[in-house]
Amino acid sequence: MAVLGIESSAHTFGVGISYKGKILANAKEMYKITDKGMIPSRVAEFHANNAREVIQRAVSGSGIPLSEIEAISYTKGPGLGPCLRIGQLAAMTLSEMLSVPLYPVNHAIGHIQITTHLSGFKDPLAVYVSGGNSQILGITERRFRHYSVYGETLDIGVGNMIDNFARAAKLNPAWGSTVARIAENGHYMQMPYTVKGMDFTFTGLLTNAVKALSSHKVEDVAYSLQETAFSMIAEASERALLLSGKRGVILCGGVAQSKRLQEILTAMSKSHGVGFYTAPNEYNADNGAMIAYVGELMHRGGAKPGHGDYAVEQRYRIDGVDLKWL
Ligand code: FE2
Repeated sequence: MAVLGIESSAHTFGVGISYKGKILANAKEMYKITDKGMIPSRVAEFHANNAREVIQRAVSGSGIPLSEIEAISYTKGPGLGPCLRIGQLAAMTLSEMLSVPLYPVNHAIGHIQITTHLSGFKDPLAVYVSGGNSQILGITERRFRHYSVYGETLDIGVGNMIDNFARAAKLNPAWGSTVARIAENGHYMQMPYTVKGMDFTFTGLLTNAVKALSSHKVEDVAYSLQETAFSMIAEASERALLLSGKRGVILCGGVAQSKRLQEILTAMSKSHGVGFYTAPNEYNADNGAMIAYVGELMHRGGAKPGHGDYAVEQRYRIDGVDLKWL
């Protein structure tokens, strides 16, 4: 059973092909973010211009002819509306053309499920950290089978927080990886640390760090910002791990590429005798393979999306998705 999945929720237009749980292709094109950030209509135009070529590259790389694709999936949300619509339209066209079923996929479930699959863990705690998201989740059976959010950011995502700091510090490129590099030579200074139960907030930390730039070395501020933010995530994750009784921890999403965050969560998991796993970077960055993989799970699990389920949703919450197909 081969499923082609399309991801287009933000700057990446990605197309993956999953066959019996094996990823046969994971092609992508990424919009280059300028200092003006992402203008959704521009990114959508980029996706529209690249869709055909990326689809062709994924199909030819997979070794499976398009005629043998048995289902199509795409990211329904969350994400930027105009960008999501390009992926949706491409997926609808392919599904119509090939007369195969179409599956709308939650982006966060894509990241979590591909990582869970690669980890080999059964039912782990998921720490999902990206630009716009920071959540700690696990599958529960309360009312229906779904991901429960044990804890999450009450304001901005950790990735956007670090990127905002990088821009304020005039780092080039203004990304988390640049902050991480600079932080290697830094020393710790106290910063606001806000964990409320299993939730946390980042804006106080960001404001403080940006202010500190005028009186402290950028290396020290970068190091302290990173240590504080990641420790907050680790404290909340530890509490969620103990409360949920899960026996493994996976880290996924764009910020999961951070070596320092991986180190901290590895130590936390080890201290409780549970396994820790994060996927190779190509699956932590946005990609089509994770959408194809979830499409395959839905297809195999007998998911039957109704006519009203195909619309894109910019704020498509993970905890409302019924996982009866899983
Ligand atoms: Fe993502």
